Amino acid sequence: MTMKPISYPELSSRARSHWTPDRLQRLMAGKRLPLHPATHCTFLHATGLMNDDASVTSGQVKKYLQINHMISLIAPPFRALAKAMPGHTLTLLDAGCGNSYLSLAFAFLAREANAGRLPQIPDWKDTRFELHVIGVDNNAEVIRQSRERAALLGLEDAMSFQMTALSEALLPERLHAVMALHACDTATDDALALGIRRRADLLAVAPCCQAELARHFKTLAAQPGEPHPLEVVLHSPNLRRDAAATLTDALRLALVRAHGYEATATEFIPSAHTPKNRLILAERRGRYNKAALASFLSLKQACGQAELSLERSLQGLPADLPG
Ligand SMILES: C[S@@+](CC[C@H](N)C(=O)[O-])C[C@H]1O[C@@H](n2cnc3c(N)ncnc32)[C@H](O)[C@@H]1O
Repeated sequence: MTMKPISYPELSSRARSHWTPDRLQRLMAGKRLPLHPATHCTFLHATGLMNDDASVTSGQVKKYLQINHMISLIAPPFRALAKAMPGHTLTLLDAGCGNSYLSLAFAFLAREANAGRLPQIPDWKDTRFELHVIGVDNNAEVIRQSRERAALLGLEDAMSFQMTALSEALLPERLHAVMALHACDTATDDALALGIRRRADLLAVAPCCQAELARHFKTLAAQPGEPHPLEVVLHSPNLRRDAAATLTDALRLALVRAHGYEATATEFIPSAHTPKNRLILAERRGRYNKAALASFLSLKQACGQAELSLERSLQGLPADLPG
């Protein structure tokens, strides 16, 4: 039996009655999130984050909260960028976009903001900007679905998608912002390297699994000779994995800073929603930072001279890129 597709007036009416103050409080924990389940039910339904009865299951809640929290943190620096570049179309890359929840939300909210319909993001309230979002993923099925959803939301002019590895993507010379939400392993490094090479003003990556340094630590643990200062960590698989993830992000942070960015690592969402909840947020200041490079090199030494993907990808890049 084929189900009759739900009409949007019907969905809106269901969303208004479903999202009682009690349920809203449980979902949003009193926060003012950019996407509201009653106001933006059409978006949430079109992207598969809301069911026909306007409910949101626990799996959908996780993604809903991840994209809302990411956007809340990216919105202020993005607004500053839009203000600094009036009249420009800002190009945003979503690296390892998957089903493109984040980039669809970004393009959708930008359209809402431009139409003056977005009180939830005070930072975008008086800022008008043209936006082009490029989603890149090497999985054909997610790209097919992303294109379909963009069309369903009438966002096809504001978005384009490429089914390819990040290293093969055809991108404009200049990107304004790069984001990556849980791009697997070294795809996060590819995203950072693409952004740095293309002088992106804003980088926002929430890393996923990290295996490179953990592998290096395992090799170090097996080496004969003097015990390494990290010996206890190297010989405990659990500690080794955790330490490798944290130190990988510390090395990334130092390297991004060395390439002229002011960068922080913060928790973008409570760990109850996802353990992969670290956000590296970086804003380009343009000056190569030798102190940050020194800090990167000394941490690299402490990690047994591990060479990470990001460092390899940035090799040969001139220290001072033109503005
Ligand atoms: C865990 S999913 C996250 C998807 C999406 N960002 C999200 O948060 O819903 C990681 C995605 O990165 C893609 N990916 C991993 N490595 C990639 C690479 N080197 N180039 C392009 N896409 C890649 C995978 O196909 C997958 O869709």
